[in-house]
Amino acid sequence: MDQRLIDLLRADLTTAGYTVERVRGLWGEMAEAALHRSNRVVAIRALDAREGTEGVEPVATLARLFILGLPADVDAVSRALPTLGADGAVELGLLSRFDDRGLRPALDLRPYAWVDANGSGAWWIASDLGELALGHELGEEHVLGVGGASMTLSGIILPERVGSALDLGTGCGIQALHLSRIADRVVATDISERALELAALNARLNGIDSIEFRLGSMFEPVTGERFDRIVSNPPFVITPRMEGVPNYEYRDGGLVGDALVESVFIEAARHLTEDGVAQFLGNWEYRARTDGLDRVADWVEHSRETVDAWVIEREVQDPAEYAETWIRDGGTRAGTAEFERLAAAWLDDFASRSVTGVGFGYVLLRRTDSPTSLRRLERLHGHAGSNSAGLGAHLAVCLAAHDWQVALDDQALLRERVVLAGDVTEERHYWPGDEDPTAMHLRQGGGLARSVGVDTGLAGLVGACDGELALGAIVDAIAQLVEVDAGELGDELLPRVRALIDDGILLPAV
Ligand SMILES: C[S@@+](CC[C@H](N)C(=O)[O-])C[C@H]1O[C@@H](n2cnc3c(N)ncnc32)[C@H](O)[C@@H]1O
Repeated sequence: MDQRLIDLLRADLTTAGYTVERVRGLWGEMAEAALHRSNRVVAIRALDAREGTEGVEPVATLARLFILGLPADVDAVSRALPTLGADGAVELGLLSRFDDRGLRPALDLRPYAWVDANGSGAWWIASDLGELALGHELGEEHVLGVGGASMTLSGIILPERVGSALDLGTGCGIQALHLSRIADRVVATDISERALELAALNARLNGIDSIEFRLGSMFEPVTGERFDRIVSNPPFVITPRMEGVPNYEYRDGGLVGDALVESVFIEAARHLTEDGVAQFLGNWEYRARTDGLDRVADWVEHSRETVDAWVIEREVQDPAEYAETWIRDGGTRAGTAEFERLAAAWLDDFASRSVTGVGFGYVLLRRTDSPTSLRRLERLHGHAGSNSAGLGAHLAVCLAAHDWQVALDDQALLRERVVLAGDVTEERHYWPGDEDPTAMHLRQGGGLARSVGVDTGLAGLVGACDGELALGAIVDAIAQLVEVDAGELGDELLPRVRALIDDGILLPAV
């Protein structure tokens, strides 16, 4: 792509003020919410109404073309892109002509604002037009824009600075752009040449020059190389491998069942430096006699190098729900004959492996030489907490706290001081009229919004963790109060204290 044209595009988007806020201001919250449900009517009406009063503003033309997927005439385009011009936009592949004066979008191009642990900012992201703009189902070579899964993954990236990072299956390049914020050097790979072109366009458009783009399948373009961080939103969707079922490059890895995710588990560590971390999303099948997380545990054991593993399962869908989700995602509507044909294909495929459910979750693997590697595979379904700068910062705190506690034996831990994290509250439930609570929970406001049941002893200990007293002194005081042996109480409480440290509920006092 012509780099000079991309620079002109950037200048025009900046001049027009093509930002998330301005666009939202053009059409309002209701239109924004409707667009998330694939309804652009509210936004179109809002733009039409503005045109009557404000004339055609450049930012409105950009939003009409590149978000709503509607055509515009050459005069409006020339005003919206004054330095690139309509010809430049056509040459860049952003627009196509359909008659003397009409231009229609050939790409989706929208502002994207982000906040991470290191700051905030905004980019523009180009991708292929979605169904709404196309008016029909997506093509198999579709290059995806920034979706829910993309934002989930970028949100969990650990914020620590690293030397090198790999984005496997970069698509429009969104993870690579985020990685460029923490890594000196980023390699972004994809099996799709077109995805790499769009990702390179996005990097240039946003003034980022630390990303190298490489074509190829899975880890093949980085054979023999290691990275401090690997991030991937791989094509993990489970799709029947049969004639007549579309195989979308952006989501289907082309393998049977969850074999592609299994391969990422097995291969990733071979491309990590010592202490390097891989973070990815995945689906895993539950089968008639095998729990999904047990299968994942097995994949971890088959990793090519020793790893710490932290897997957080966020939901499990039954086979019918899963099939519906992904058939709809491809643009086929429920109630049509095509939908029913595809749903049957999905159910046959699941039945052939006795699949009873499909788990979805976040994976973190860390290469380690330690003989006592972390194995934390947990189910945390439901909403995460409030993490304005992303969940990644919380995961980093938990990992560091885990490393700290696991290096201390019980005696050493009792000499340490810890503090209760600022987002933790205690809930007590009483039978009406009772003086003593029937249930007590520590509730995390941020992080993963954990709720941990506690008894009076642990609640008393946690309540005294203000960083002043060592854990041993707190245990002694509680033992005296309730007249039990301090050693026995310590033995009972310490494993649970360690678990609260791993959860980021208790933190080492600094
Ligand atoms: C779900 S999209 C993720 C895109 C982007 N990284 C994100 O987070 O939004 C998966 C990407 O993997 C790519 N892909 C599919 N099969 C692949 C393979 N065998 N090797 C590498 N990339 C592949 C697709 O082209 C697509 O861009």
